[in-house]
Amino acid sequence: MKELILNGKHNRSKILIGRNLMKQAAEHFRKLFEGGRTPSAVCVITDSNVAKLYLQQVEEELLRLDLPVFHYIIPAGEESKNLNTISQIYDTLSNRQFGRNDMIVALGGGVTGDIAGFAAATYLRGVRHLVQIPTTLLAQVDSSVGGKTGVDLPQGKNLVGAFRQPDMVLIDPAVLESLPEDVFISGMAEVIKYGCIWDEDILKIAEQMDCGGGQNRTNELGALIERCVDIKIKVVEEDETEEGLRRILNFGHTVAHGVEKLGNYTELSHGEAVAIGMAAAVKMGENAGITPRGSYERLTAVLQRYGLSISLTYPVEAVYEALLTDKKKQGNSIHFVFIEAFGKTQVRKIPVGELKQMMKALGD
Ligand code: GLY
Repeated sequence: MKELILNGKHNRSKILIGRNLMKQAAEHFRKLFEGGRTPSAVCVITDSNVAKLYLQQVEEELLRLDLPVFHYIIPAGEESKNLNTISQIYDTLSNRQFGRNDMIVALGGGVTGDIAGFAAATYLRGVRHLVQIPTTLLAQVDSSVGGKTGVDLPQGKNLVGAFRQPDMVLIDPAVLESLPEDVFISGMAEVIKYGCIWDEDILKIAEQMDCGGGQNRTNELGALIERCVDIKIKVVEEDETEEGLRRILNFGHTVAHGVEKLGNYTELSHGEAVAIGMAAAVKMGENAGITPRGSYERLTAVLQRYGLSISLTYPVEAVYEALLTDKKKQGNSIHFVFIEAFGKTQVRKIPVGELKQMMKALGD
């Protein structure tokens, strides 16, 4: 088991990575409560898919500590990531007299983690304990770590949210063996992102890794998850609230948010959209002379190795219009992340008119 620490401004996050950690969750919860910080109730927030697989197991671990446990199950899918779901969670918590010293456990993928984290950040102005137990590759390598929480508005993705570092993140790569293939693939896009922005070796591993399922793959993934989380910790510790360095984690996300919006957040998964967005960013970087020629070919080869499509399925003009609601836009400019070389980024604040021009070539 690997133990990593993320020191946030207000909270310290303990991040544990190891096979079968979920089966030993009670032991790790116990350590979290050392020093008299035991909650008097726990609410596990999960989704309708993950509940069938892991809810009972996690609740049993919590019951071993004699903690009163209840749960809230969200219908699986990005469609649930809205203020209506948050309001229903608040109702459940207050009907159960859930208090400020109690604990929310987010059990699931990125959508669940964002919703549960936001509920934990805002109910009673913030509950004391938040634990993330990510069950998808995307959530394990990225979204469960770093404290971003929030929900979508009809106007765009993640437009309401809060920064709330979890007290603990339990990452168990063994649970990835139960992942549907498309969910695995979506996570690989975020893994490849870390190879592009920080550590070319991650890209090299992804270029060679066993693409088949099963334990071999999850063993290889365990090591990759550690590397990605390690990078995420370094970035977030330097810039927790995304005023500088953390922007690099948005590589590929500008165009991705546009295509996700056009597909009503249901046609493409976040990872699939990020793959399209990264390919677009590299092509635009090559055309602008920022990214070395040949990078697009290399990136698209590794994305396609995992079955990730790179083609922009909507007209460029429509993608451009859709991405303008992206929260990374500041006035008439947007921070756009380019790759100077694999492992090295360049963030440029570009006027949206210039971005529109740069995007034109994506339609060719
Ligand atoms: N997922 C990007 C970030 O946490 O900043």
